Amino acid sequence: MKLWPRSIAGRTFLVLLLGLFAVQVVALTIHAFDRVELQRAAQAREAIGRTAALWRAMQMTPPDRRDAVARSYDLPDGLAATVDARPLAPEYGLAPNPALDRLAAGLGRLGPPAMRPREVLVGGEPRRAVMASLRLADGTWLNVAHRPPPPRPWSNPGFLAALALMTGAVAALSFWAVRRTTRPISDLAAAAERLGRDVNAPRLPEAGPAEVAQAAAAFNTMADRISRFVANRTAMLAAIGHDLKTPITRLRLRAEFVEDDAVRGKILADLDEMERMIAGTLAFARDEAAAEPMGRVDLAVLLRTVADEANDVAGEEVVTLAAPEHLPVQGRPLALKRAVANLVGNAVAYAGRCVVRLSGPEHGLVRVAVEDDGPGIPEAELERVFQPFHRLEASRSRETGGTGLGLTIARSILRGHGGDVTLANRTPRGLAAIATLPA
Ligand SMILES: Nc1ncnc2c1ncn2[C@@H]1O[C@H](COP(=O)(O)OP(=O)(O)O)[C@@H](O)[C@H]1O
Ligand SMILES: [Mg+2]
Repeated sequence: MKLWPRSIAGRTFLVLLLGLFAVQVVALTIHAFDRVELQRAAQAREAIGRTAALWRAMQMTPPDRRDAVARSYDLPDGLAATVDARPLAPEYGLAPNPALDRLAAGLGRLGPPAMRPREVLVGGEPRRAVMASLRLADGTWLNVAHRPPPPRPWSNPGFLAALALMTGAVAALSFWAVRRTTRPISDLAAAAERLGRDVNAPRLPEAGPAEVAQAAAAFNTMADRISRFVANRTAMLAAIGHDLKTPITRLRLRAEFVEDDAVRGKILADLDEMERMIAGTLAFARDEAAAEPMGRVDLAVLLRTVADEANDVAGEEVVTLAAPEHLPVQGRPLALKRAVANLVGNAVAYAGRCVVRLSGPEHGLVRVAVEDDGPGIPEAELERVFQPFHRLEASRSRETGGTGLGLTIARSILRGHGGDVTLANRTPRGLAAIATLPA
């Protein structure tokens, strides 16, 4: 169904247009039938009147001149008269013909009985010629052929023009009305889209028709609840992280009393790790709560900064960038930078070097791929490493200094922008972290 439009506005408009067309066709047909009927009735009336008048004139004309007079008699279009020795009507047969019925009925009631022809015969062809034969006093017959011109249902050219104008006006009006009534639906869709990228997006105006205002109010309530829910969860995370600090400090003091050096060392190492985890959680919660405003971010420039910083830290070129000069997107610059830096940091930590490719926008999405040639991640772990504090065995023993929050934070930030990040292993080896962002 290519012709069936996808938008509500398009569909409503199409249905309205088809309805309008159907109504016009029916109305025009009724009108045409009416006009044709009227024209036929008028033609029949005229034919009957003329025939009767002609018959009376013939009665008073000398017989030898009758035919000549009848032939030269001034008759309207479609009527022709002759005077013959025999009636011509029977030769025409009696095909069903509304004009014939009218003629027969009309000629049967011509004036007072004394003035009426003694005998009237009618006949008709299947199409439209009708013949009336009226007997004259001396036994000859007045034969009047009636060939009414075809009826014209659209006699007035202005009529069709007016109709076209009216149809055009109604179509334009419905187009405007449909567009106007469906606009709030697209506004709502846009607002939902914005909410997906930014929990603190501006509220919808609760104005307009009742249903629209109601939907907007419901939407605003939902948006408020979501943003409150997010804020509550972040606050809770910060509180837990904060409250855990005190018992850890106490544990650290108590660990000093453990006699066995090896055991004490292990306990202190575990406490160190716990502290780092909590510090990471707190930093994450703080960033979330900071609610950096959305703005225009040049992703190409941002990636160049991340690459330069990583190269500076490493003291050599470990990050290669393949990106256009500029690629603006909507986003929170600091958060986006943290997300990308986490991906690049992982690649550098676990693979040594990487290539960052920026491409798009394609299908409304911009794509950042961080590709390395390192050990990769077992297929079963590709999703799990996004969970908080989830690290692979190899990296636990390999002192990379991470806490297992890097990917969690990167995904949280990108999803908060309406995008996402996924991991995929590369052939023959290595990992690709692919981040997408709405353009
Ligand atoms: N580019 C990579 N190559 C191999 N393994 C990786 C890569 N990036 C992440 N990982 C694995 O995923 C785990 C989780 O990463 P992340 O959340 O950044 O935590 P962290 O880097 O602090 O350990 C890492 O511990 C590591 O095992
Ligand atoms: Mg990391």
